[in-house]
Amino acid sequence: MLNDRSSLLSLLESRRSGKPRELVGPGPTAEEMERILAIGARTPDHGKLSPWRFVTIANDQRDAFEVVLQNALSEENPDATAAHHEKEHEFAHYAGQLVVLISAPVQDHKIPVWEQELSCGAAGMNLLLAAHASGYVAGWVTGWRAYSARVRTAFCETGERIAGFIFIGHAARELEDRERPPLATVCRAWRPPDL
Ligand SMILES: Cc1cc2nc3c(=O)[nH]c(=O)nc-3n(C[C@H](O)[C@H](O)[C@H](O)COP(=O)(O)O)c2cc1C
Repeated sequence: MLNDRSSLLSLLESRRSGKPRELVGPGPTAEEMERILAIGARTPDHGKLSPWRFVTIANDQRDAFEVVLQNALSEENPDATAAHHEKEHEFAHYAGQLVVLISAPVQDHKIPVWEQELSCGAAGMNLLLAAHASGYVAGWVTGWRAYSARVRTAFCETGERIAGFIFIGHAARELEDRERPPLATVCRAWRPPDL
């Protein structure tokens, strides 16, 4: 049991993202994806509102996804060059599995939207952890596509928004870790204010 716990902690300590454009396939199998998504949905959520959803884009739907991106780009940036359009082709076809994380807060509810959005972020984090624990590398990106009204309508109902595109595949080479904030800069013991 202790060994299990220590390997679980090592797993948490070793998670890092990969850049989606650098991932290689294959991504998780259908069974692995179901498990990753189920873990993603096992997320704290004040009020049991499930204020998030996952939309998977199958590999044979990548061309259709590209059409959405290309149309959005043309509409929102009439000056877009061939190089910009090529980038959308590449993005739509990055290797691995693709999950679109949707924030779906319930409006006018006693649970503040802020808390519902926090839950969405936690669901995204859980997906990253589950992907890592399954032996994959994941990368969460937003960029203009997540904020585009045209892209949003392809995935979201009214009041929802895209929280990110999460690609899950393998790293082509060993990932370098990024600098982490020294704990002392992000954590301190509370001192009661002088009254
Ligand atoms: C909500 C959200 C949106 C992000 N969007 C982008 C993005 O558009 N482009 C990018 O290069 N990184 C983006 N990132 C950061 C990457 O996921 C980055 O690789 C990650 O923070 C690395 O940290 P990690 O190794 O601890 O996962 C985003 C992260 C979050 C949480």
